[in-house]
Amino acid sequence: MAVDLLLGLQWGDEGKGKIVDVLTTDYDIIARFQGGPNAGHTLEFDGIKHVLHTIPSGIFHKSALNIVGNGVVIDPVIFKKELDALKKFNLDIKAKLFISRKAHLILPTHRLLDAASEASKGKAKIGSTLKGIGPTYMDKTGRNGMRIGDLEMSDWKEKYRSLANKHEAMISFYDVDIQYDLAELEKDFFDSITELKELTFIDSEEYLYQAQKSGKKILAEGAQGSLLDIDFGTYPFVTSSNTTAAGACTGLGVAPNQIGEVKGIFKAYTTRVGSGPFPTELFDEDGETMARVGNEFGATTGRPRRCGWLDLVALKYAVIINGVTELMMMKADVLSGFDTLKICTAYNYKGEKIEHLPFNIEAENVTPIYSEMKGWKEDLTKMSSADQLPATLMAYIEFLEKELEVPIKIVSVGPDRTQTIHR
Ligand code: GDP
Ligand code: IMO
Ligand code: MG
Repeated sequence: MAVDLLLGLQWGDEGKGKIVDVLTTDYDIIARFQGGPNAGHTLEFDGIKHVLHTIPSGIFHKSALNIVGNGVVIDPVIFKKELDALKKFNLDIKAKLFISRKAHLILPTHRLLDAASEASKGKAKIGSTLKGIGPTYMDKTGRNGMRIGDLEMSDWKEKYRSLANKHEAMISFYDVDIQYDLAELEKDFFDSITELKELTFIDSEEYLYQAQKSGKKILAEGAQGSLLDIDFGTYPFVTSSNTTAAGACTGLGVAPNQIGEVKGIFKAYTTRVGSGPFPTELFDEDGETMARVGNEFGATTGRPRRCGWLDLVALKYAVIINGVTELMMMKADVLSGFDTLKICTAYNYKGEKIEHLPFNIEAENVTPIYSEMKGWKEDLTKMSSADQLPATLMAYIEFLEKELEVPIKIVSVGPDRTQTIHR
């Protein structure tokens, strides 16, 4: 059985958590392949809203096994909080959640280093979630990191100490005022590790290989979005992992020829949280309406998300980079009520019309060129089948399918599991 992927095509928060939860009924295993607690994946069903950061979004389904892959970075403190929040739902976590021994650990000092680095950048800051993601991946590629498997060795505390000492020296190197009580942070960290060690650690690449061989259906769950990819995103305003399809190969140990469907998910408009260029960003009433109706606040940091029209130039780029085979359009309900919808179909780039994403999409180089389409007024949130969708929304969908050359298989019309229309 091939491994299917589901990943975000914009700047994150497309609705991956909701859709993974919806799709889990078709899969035996859900596996996260990159990112860490910078992610906030929201699921809603039975009137309850859940936000997951590191735990895969298949966790609420009885039959599915959830794996945190080697490409993920894990903060034991946040992981413990996630586990605590799940306790009242009586899920058999020990049987349903396995962690790769090769996943890297986020130390308290990684978080401090993130804060120091951002503070030192002033106005040029990335707008990081400050979860220690960048410093942890730096230690991974710098070959200094600590991994989950290290916790099974007797000398892991010495390893920890030597890395934390190095980090403290690095923090003092930044000329910024960061207040912290490391002893307090470490107490939390060590307590959380005790709980983490009660879970099952596995060699996940081998486990997934055997699962695949025995016919198990596997869905790899991405975090962040393609425009935040360390190689292909709007660098340096990106995260520190490969959020694109290739990240699933390195983040799970799945060979490229074992990848099946690539499910790409996007909002019917665009949002971004944190700094960095955003050509179709709106600073007017239309943007405010999207933010208000779409309740656009970060699931991890609570920061307001910047909003704008759909950017088809960027979306096409993401479809190509990922080899997307199926699309899912989220939050169509949020656009109900607009007389006219705009879609950016090209950029004016330094005076020239272009239809691809250039090296630099800063506002001084790029002005979006829009096509306009008629909007719809109907409340979509109670619709349950494609034949109920308004003709103008169908025209919007068909326009996108024609431009992107990939079918839109799901249209999402609300945050709940049930507000999902399959086509
Ligand atoms: P993720 O990071 O990709 O999992 O997305 P987030 O959970 O960070 O953000 C998506 C937000 O939109 C969450 O609050 C979801 O509950 C919500 N959401 C998902 N799909 C829809 C939809 O179709 N309509 C509306 N109105 N909200 C949605
Ligand atoms: P999910 O999985 C949206 C953004 C941050 C910042 C940049 C770098 O919920 O879609 P980092 O903490 O990685 O150093 O931040 O990336 N960012 C996200 N934006 N959704 C996310 O995850 C994000 N994870 C990181 O806001 O701009
Ligand atoms: Mg999110």
